[in-house]
Amino acid sequence: MPPRILVFAGSIRTGSYNARLAALVAKELARTEVEVSLISLQDYSMPLYDGDREGASGPPEAAVKLKRMLCAHHGVFIASPEYNASVAPLLKNAIDWVSRVRDGKEPPLAAYRNRAFALGAASDGSYGGMRSLMALRQILELGCGALVIPEQISVRGAAQAFDDRDDIKDPQLAGLLRTTAQRLIEVARHFA
Ligand SMILES: Cc1cc2nc3c(=O)[nH]c(=O)nc-3n(C[C@H](O)[C@H](O)[C@H](O)COP(=O)(O)O)c2cc1C
Repeated sequence: MPPRILVFAGSIRTGSYNARLAALVAKELARTEVEVSLISLQDYSMPLYDGDREGASGPPEAAVKLKRMLCAHHGVFIASPEYNASVAPLLKNAIDWVSRVRDGKEPPLAAYRNRAFALGAASDGSYGGMRSLMALRQILELGCGALVIPEQISVRGAAQAFDDRDDIKDPQLAGLLRTTAQRLIEVARHFA
């Protein structure tokens, strides 16, 4: 069975660099035999995590929906914006809510286990969102027990990094994107 790979960005900003990166990775993956789902967190709108709310009514419907989307895929690519050297709250909140969803008697954190994750970031700054990737890797690996592949892509100077077809201009960086996508497929295949 060809692996199914889910792709999304941790930004819903109009013109988001990370949404462009996510779309480019989805395009790259779609050149292969994998089934790709590109989603936007816009369609999974959640309130800020609140333990009282969870106690009263459980996780919001959008968190349940996103958790099931993750579970329906063997690989996941996340394009992560960098806010103050860490992960943007939209993405962290979604990860936190999803970590609280349990369907039936399944073990905790089912959305993060038994699939492969790959990370990327884009920022107009000179670090290219690299520090958000370090934080996101820690959250997913240490917090959620996820397998995150070592290959990752970081797009700095993002305002100038994409051409008018939304491809990455720098050939070396474009090569790294392909390597990351290929490695994600390879590892995701083990879970298919
Ligand atoms: C609160 C806040 C903090 C930010 N901190 C950083 C930062 O630490 N490093 C960085 O490269 N960019 C930082 N930025 C700029 C974002 O990387 C930039 O807004 C980027 O375009 C966000 O990603 P997006 O284009 O996918 O929405 C920050 C932006 C905001 C709003």
